[in-house]
Amino acid sequence: MPEPLRLGIAGLGTVGVGVVKIVQNHAELLRLRTGREIAITAVSARDRTKNRDADISGYAWETDPVALAGRKDIDVFVEVMGGANGPAKAATEAAIAAGKDVVTANKALLAHHGQALAEAAETAGRVIRFEAAVAGGIPVVKALTEGLAGNRLKRVMGVMNGTCNYILTRMENAGLPYEAVFEEARQLGYLEADPSLDVDGIDAGHKLSLLASIAFGTKVSFDAVELEGIGHVSIEDIRRAADMGYRIKLLGVAQMTGRGLEQRMSPCLVPAESPLGQLQGGTNMVVLEGDSVGQIVMRGPGAGQGPTASAVMSDVIEIARGSRIATFGQPALSLVDAIPAKAAAPAPYYLRMELLDKPGALAKVAAVLGDAGISIDRMRQYGHADISAPVLIVTHKTTRDAIDLAIRGFAATGVVEGQTVAIRIEEV
Ligand code: NAP
Ligand code: HSE
Repeated sequence: MPEPLRLGIAGLGTVGVGVVKIVQNHAELLRLRTGREIAITAVSARDRTKNRDADISGYAWETDPVALAGRKDIDVFVEVMGGANGPAKAATEAAIAAGKDVVTANKALLAHHGQALAEAAETAGRVIRFEAAVAGGIPVVKALTEGLAGNRLKRVMGVMNGTCNYILTRMENAGLPYEAVFEEARQLGYLEADPSLDVDGIDAGHKLSLLASIAFGTKVSFDAVELEGIGHVSIEDIRRAADMGYRIKLLGVAQMTGRGLEQRMSPCLVPAESPLGQLQGGTNMVVLEGDSVGQIVMRGPGAGQGPTASAVMSDVIEIARGSRIATFGQPALSLVDAIPAKAAAPAPYYLRMELLDKPGALAKVAAVLGDAGISIDRMRQYGHADISAPVLIVTHKTTRDAIDLAIRGFAATGVVEGQTVAIRIEEV
């Protein structure tokens, strides 16, 4: 029987305790599946006195995760503390320097330092695995690096922040405004300690940047992800979009185009009947499109103790079996700099405006759209008690620049009140 694979776990919060539970509860299953014992040698967290909801009395304790990373009696450093810098980065670097493989759930760390860490690990002959960092329990990293490795990837997209999907679906189902549901999410403990990571699209953007690197063979370029959060999505747009057969999702899209790598994380309309449109609550969904396979849709829990620990363990098992996959699916030194696309590919847009009810008003709006080179696909005007009427327009494919030009044009007509809302419709 080969030697046991010895883990050092840094972080005993939601995910770390989940990992401890799986190692303890599934010891025999893990041995059968890997051909060796998986053992925890040492653990680290800030507060040794905290009740951990798992028996950790048999493990050595390190208060300093860097010290844990350097211990001679561990083979794999499991980083489940979090944070793009600080102890997570220092300890991961220390682990690589000490010749350990690394398993992490930390998307922020890899979105900011993934290339440097992958190069360091590969130079040292070590691996970094990060299944849990993207879409929690959904095995999307393995799908891309293994299952779809024979494909040229065309597009990767998905809903990868459960909190935002919870907020948007709850707004629609309960008819509540953003602020009320945000507060509800806070009470339920769904929000990150810094909620902007969720609602400004940063957390989901981190995840998208990691998938884009694997899919397109490019260095992780989180700074090039176009980010737009959900804070300005109104209940009115959620309702009106539903009337037109759409749902609003915080959707991440990465695709390699002739104009460069497009990476966007922003509220988009998707057809209500599509798998993405049907996604409710905190669930995640990732859609992968390859030249040979076509489209794959993966749906599942994007967070929580069990799902995230399940993903961490899949990486531990991979290492225990002797698999040595490069961090981003190909050698880090072969990843190329991504040339960011300057603008998103053309798409249909949803426009909502308040139009003054007077003769010729609609003709003026149509003329502005025509002058901007935008063709109307569908239009709806609502009944109204006031001097202005809500008008919705779904355009044919156009560019964001043309939409912005038209919005400036509307303001000059004298028949459009307030700010026109424009949301991209993603073809899924
Ligand atoms: P958490 O519950 O806040 O736990 C963090 C743990 O790290 C705590 O045990 C904490 O110690 C420990 N820690 C923090 N700073 C430390 C330091 N300087 N030295 C030693 N220990 C330190 O976090 P989590 O939810 O488990 O998340 C962990 C990682 O998984 C993050 O990168 C997160 O983004 C990622 N992730 C989480 C989920 C999820 O559903 N929770 C899903 C996907 C990915 P104390 O307990 O003593 O304070
Ligand atoms: N805040 C994240 C979410 C946790 O809501 O999806 C999992 O990464």
